[in-house]
Amino acid sequence: MNTQIFKLKNLVKSTFLLTAFTSFSAFAVDMPKPTANGIDFPAGYQDWSIVSMTHREDNKTIRSVIGNPMAIQAIKDGKTNPWPNGAILGKLVWKDAKDKHWPTATIPGKFVHAEFMFKDTNKWAQTGGWGWARWVGLEQVPFGNTAKAAQDSCIACHTPVKNQDWVFHKPAMLPPRIEKN
Ligand code: HEC
Repeated sequence: MNTQIFKLKNLVKSTFLLTAFTSFSAFAVDMPKPTANGIDFPAGYQDWSIVSMTHREDNKTIRSVIGNPMAIQAIKDGKTNPWPNGAILGKLVWKDAKDKHWPTATIPGKFVHAEFMFKDTNKWAQTGGWGWARWVGLEQVPFGNTAKAAQDSCIACHTPVKNQDWVFHKPAMLPPRIEKN
């Protein structure tokens, strides 16, 4: 093969590979930063299981409460007051939106934030046995610039349910789980 053509072919090939690589890395998402009170982002929470949900009339948001595998096990065992160490509850919040094919339905629109309660009575003894953290928007920006700002409003608002381990939601009613063979 003529060396000129060979070089040209290789150039085309490497440019193609480079483009493919850069466009692939454009999809790779960086891990969101920990919160100012020292809580690491719970990567993979999108795959946790449903615990409950609510619709808030005043600020028009839909919220879904989810639990990590440890929280779901606690629900199966009926051990949710107190929740066991290692359980994590999350709440995902979306603005209300309308389905154009079904106007009477309210569906999740813009994603507002994801917030979490991490149960660890040793690590979080000063904050009710829970670590409190929120990441805002699709970019998942940590909420609160100081440890106080990151958690104080959470604790203040959850104080009325202190006697049910600081958790508002009771798990939503579900038919009994059937174990697969
Ligand atoms: C204005 C009051 C208020 C503030 C502030 C608040 N919460 Fe809540 N939170 C609630 C209420 C009420 C519920 C249950 C009903 C709902 O959200 O729809 C709840 C539910 C939750 C849940 C689901 C478990 C449960 O308790 O039912 C998590 C997780 C949660 N909040 C985390 C946080 C975190 C983390 C913060 C702070 C970054 C925070 N909350 C701040 C009022 C508040």
